[in-house]
Amino acid sequence: MGYVGHRPALEVVLGGLRRLEYRGYDSAGVAVLAGQGLAVERKAGRLTNLEARLDEVGRDGFAGTAGMGHTRWATHGPPVDRNSHPHRDVTNRVAVVHNGIIENFAALRAELEAGGVEFTSDTDTETAAHLVAHAYDAGDTAGDLPASVRAVCRRLDGAFTLVVTHVDQPDLIVAARRSSPLVVGLGEGETFVASDVAAFIEHTRDAVELGQDQVVTITRDGYRVTDFAGEDVDTRPFRVDWDLSAAEKGGHEYFMLKEIEEQPTALADTLRGHFGDGRIILDEQRISDQDLRDVDKVFVVACGTAYHSGLVAKYAIEHWTRLPVEVELASEFRYRDPVLDRDTLVVAVSQSGETADTLEAVRHAREQKARVLAVCNTNGAQIPRESDAVLYTHAGPEVGVASTKTFLAQIAAIYLVGLALAQARGTKYPDEVAREYDGLCAMPDAVARVLGTVEKVRSLGRSLAEAKAVLFLGRHVGYPVALEGALKLKELAYMHAEGFAAGELKHGPIALIEEGLPVVVVMPSPKGRAVLHQKLLSNISEIQARGARTIVIAEEGDETVRPFADELVEVPAVPTLMQPLVSTVPLQVLAAEIARTRGYDVDKPRNLAKSVTVE
Ligand code: M6R
Repeated sequence: MGYVGHRPALEVVLGGLRRLEYRGYDSAGVAVLAGQGLAVERKAGRLTNLEARLDEVGRDGFAGTAGMGHTRWATHGPPVDRNSHPHRDVTNRVAVVHNGIIENFAALRAELEAGGVEFTSDTDTETAAHLVAHAYDAGDTAGDLPASVRAVCRRLDGAFTLVVTHVDQPDLIVAARRSSPLVVGLGEGETFVASDVAAFIEHTRDAVELGQDQVVTITRDGYRVTDFAGEDVDTRPFRVDWDLSAAEKGGHEYFMLKEIEEQPTALADTLRGHFGDGRIILDEQRISDQDLRDVDKVFVVACGTAYHSGLVAKYAIEHWTRLPVEVELASEFRYRDPVLDRDTLVVAVSQSGETADTLEAVRHAREQKARVLAVCNTNGAQIPRESDAVLYTHAGPEVGVASTKTFLAQIAAIYLVGLALAQARGTKYPDEVAREYDGLCAMPDAVARVLGTVEKVRSLGRSLAEAKAVLFLGRHVGYPVALEGALKLKELAYMHAEGFAAGELKHGPIALIEEGLPVVVVMPSPKGRAVLHQKLLSNISEIQARGARTIVIAEEGDETVRPFADELVEVPAVPTLMQPLVSTVPLQVLAAEIARTRGYDVDKPRNLAKSVTVE
C-alpha cells in the first residue's frame, strides 16, 4: 500500500495493512517520508509484531503524510526481519515494496554486486531498490522518479507490482504493475495505491484499476498513469459497490464465521437480475448467442476451492446441455497441450480474479482462440479483464483465507452459465430453464435453514479436535463436496483429511480405515437417484464393519440412513444438483470449529495467503 495526502501516513498505512493482511502474513513493514529522510520499520510475523515494535521504538520519528507499507507472503528468502519489505538502496534514499517474483533477479543482483552494491537481504525485491536509485542518479532519467521506475520495469522479467518512494520526491509515490493487482484510491486531497480496494475503503470508494505494464504516479491531488514507455494511458475510475461494514467482522470472532453466515445473501445477490423476459441473462456478455450455440466443448479451469465448484458444475452443465465438460486444475492446464479451438468455451473461475495459475490458463486458452468466460468475485480484476466475458459472483469481500461464501456463489454462477448454454443451444425448453433458475433462487432459504441448525455440528467439531485424520466420502455431486470438506479441514485445522469418491474405497483407501477413524459421508437424496443412495449405504456398511466412526450428512426425513450414522447431520431436501449448496455448509462449520478448538487462527491459516499471485 502507498499513501500521499494530508493525514499521518503511518496510521493510514497501518490501517490499510490490517485489511490487506489476509494476502500474506509472514512479515510486515512500513516506510514514511519523514522530515529529510525515510523512517522504516519491519518485522517478521503478523502485523501485530510490527505494531508492537513501533510502540517500542516510538512513533514520533514517523511523522509524515506520505508513506508505504507491505505484508509479505515469502517467496525469496525466509520470513525474517531482514527479508521484510520495504527494501532500500545503499544510500537509504529509495524504498520499495513488491508483490510477485522478479524472475531475472539473480542476473541483476550479480550485475549490481559486480558494481559494488552490498545486498542486505535474500530477496528479489532489493534489486529493484538499487536499480531505481541508480536510474534516479544518472542518465536520461536522472532526478525523475516516474521515469526511473519505468526504466527499471523495462529491465525486469516476471510478475511484479512495485511501490516506490524517494526522499528527494516527498510529495509523490510511484507504483508499477505487471500481473499482480494494483488499484488507485481517489480521495479528497489524498491518493492511495494498494493491492486491493479494502486497504482504502474507509477513506474512499472511488478507484481506478491499473492495467498490465502501467505505471502510476500519485500525489495529494491526483494521479497520472503511463505505460512502461511513458505514454499516457486513459483510465476509467469506478465506484466500489460495497463499503467498510462489508469489510469488517460485524461482531464475529472471525471473518470466516461471518462469511459462512453471509452465504444466503451471497447466493441471492449472485442470482439476482440474471433472469428476465423468460431468459437467463449473463453480465458483461461479449460472447454472442451464436457463439454459445457453436460451443462443442467446455473446460472449467480453476484452483483449490474454485476448482471444486467447477467439479460440481460439471454434473449440471453436462446434464443440461449434453456438452462434454472437462474440469482442470489451472496449474496443469496449459502444460499438457489441451485441445482447444474457437468452439471451446473455457470457464475460468476465481474469487480473486488474480490467481496466477488461472490467469496463465486464461492466456493460454485465448492464444488457442478458445472463448473465455470468467466467473469472478472481484470487480475489474485481471482475469475478467483478459477474458471474453465475465459473470460476477456478488458474494462481497471474502477476507477469511478459506473460501466459503464464494464457493456457493461460484456454483450458482457456473450453473447460470450452464443454463445460458442450454437456452442458446435449445437443449432445455425455456420453461425448463425457468424452473431450474427458480430452483436456484430457492437455495438462499435452504442454506439459511442449514445455518439455523449448525450448533450440533459445532459440538461434533469439538469432539473431533483430537482426531489424527478424517476421511470424506461422496458420490456424484457429493464427491466434490467431500473434496471441499477435506480441503477446509486440511487448511484450517492442519489435520490429515482426504476426500474420496465412495466407489473408489475398495480400490485402495479402505485400507486407511481403522477403529474410531472419523469418516464424513455426504449422502445423496433417496428420492434422487435411488441407486446412488443404495450404493452409498453399502459403502457405509463396509467402513462401519471396519470400525469407522460415521458422520453422515443426509437429507431431512431420510430414515433409512439412521442405522448407518454414528452422528447424523440433517440438511433440507433439495433437488440433486442443488445438494452441494446445502451439504457443504456443515463441512465448513465443522472445519472452522475443529480449528478453533485446536487454537488456530481460522482466518489466517499457516503458510497460506488469500490470493496466490505467483505460479
Ligand atoms: O482466488 P481464487 O478463487 O482463484 O483462489 C483459488 C484458490 O487459491 C482458493 O480457492 C483456495 O483453494 C481457497 N482459499 C481454499 O479455501
